[in-house]
Amino acid sequence: MSSESSTQSLDRPTEEITVSVNGEAVSTSVEPRLKLSDFLRQECGLRGVRVGCEHGVCGACTVLVDGKSTKSCLTYAVQVDGSEVTTVEGLSTDGDLHPIQEAFHQEHALQCGFCTSGFVMATKELLDRNPDPDEEAIEEGLADNICRCTGYQNIYSAVDRAAEELMDAPSDDLEDRTDSAGDA
Ligand code: FES
Ligand code: FES
Repeated sequence: MSSESSTQSLDRPTEEITVSVNGEAVSTSVEPRLKLSDFLRQECGLRGVRVGCEHGVCGACTVLVDGKSTKSCLTYAVQVDGSEVTTVEGLSTDGDLHPIQEAFHQEHALQCGFCTSGFVMATKELLDRNPDPDEEAIEEGLADNICRCTGYQNIYSAVDRAAEELMDAPSDDLEDRTDSAGDA
């Protein structure tokens, strides 16, 4: 048996995609089966995208696609062709944490941190949609995300704090942050 044939790479079909990732255009060819989570982590080097269950259950892989929270483990990269994708790396501005990230830090809303970027991105979508959520709306908005190690009270407090800070922020500051996040 020839060992050469078993090590040859298969000639698999690819598709061209162009995606705005954190405000930067990325054009490349990908296999149709490549998951968005793997595309972001492996091809874009964005390790803030966490992969937990890979079954759409834990929410660790949550990113924004055109401003909508999306589980990147259940999405193929080819499905986001022409879209704007924002990961947790796209939220900070010139090294300054986004108010949501700052609120998670201030409220000690994490232990191991594996779930945190997913929670932060789900919070971003929630507060874009509903800037002043009550407790029920916060619980509902984060219902697709699981944390294995903190309990949820500090996370809910962080969302509350972020909502207050974003509402108090000068509007031009908010516009800058929205632009930098690339979530039209
Ligand atoms: S890794 Fe995507 S939902 Fe768990
Ligand atoms: S902080 Fe560890 S899983 Fe949430």
